[in-house]
Amino acid sequence: MSRTAALIIAKQVRSKPASVLGLATGSTPLGTYKELVRMHAKEGLDFSEVRTFNLDEYFRLNPSHPQSYHTFMFENLFNRMNLKPGNIAIPDGMAENVEGFCMDYELRIRLAGGLDLQLLGIGRDGHIGFNEPGSSLGSRTRLKTLAEETVRDNARFFGGKKEVPRLAITMGVGTIMEARKLVMLASGVGKADAVKRSIEGPITAQVTASALQLHPSVTVVVDEEAASTLRHRRYYAYVEKMAEEYEAEVGI
Ligand code: PGA
Repeated sequence: MSRTAALIIAKQVRSKPASVLGLATGSTPLGTYKELVRMHAKEGLDFSEVRTFNLDEYFRLNPSHPQSYHTFMFENLFNRMNLKPGNIAIPDGMAENVEGFCMDYELRIRLAGGLDLQLLGIGRDGHIGFNEPGSSLGSRTRLKTLAEETVRDNARFFGGKKEVPRLAITMGVGTIMEARKLVMLASGVGKADAVKRSIEGPITAQVTASALQLHPSVTVVVDEEAASTLRHRRYYAYVEKMAEEYEAEVGI
């Protein structure tokens, strides 16, 4: 899963060195970032012109906190790649004027030319970013209340539920849907139900990842466990095989 996702991102950056990437945090993309770092060190993958916008950040958690998404991104990717510091954007959980900050974040994405590729994880409740069940499918960057299940899921990083922030600034579903390409990752049996509901269920604000069904260019990268309950999984594997054969034939 990680290797496939890293190859998609590397292909994007090689074909457009000044790509604008939307990035995600959490345990799922860790292997992908590791692989990108390896490709940078060993294969000359160049991020010097890349601009990045992260999906979300905890509200009122200092960026220097070990569990902030700032810390996560610098430790796992930015400190190991050759991005220009001025080309990195992560929501500011300490912003005084949150509404103003969120509007400005949207504007900055637009002024950068829009997101070429947005990387996504998925929560067990089907969220993308921190767009919890009930988030409008047209939502923009804003302050969002974390669902109880998300707080519980993230408690493992904080050494307890009490320590987990209850609010976060997150890109909205509408913001995410404007990216030209979406790549969603999921691994492990714990994500199988969310994956199934987002891919094969109805499009609903109760499972914000289901909005991806309306996007013209989405790749969902899953391991066997996360795919295990998909009704049409054999067909999806067959489509992938056919696409590979077609690519080999026409030489793309
Ligand atoms: P995880 O989080 O990668 O840590 O499972 C995914 C998410 O909540 O979006």
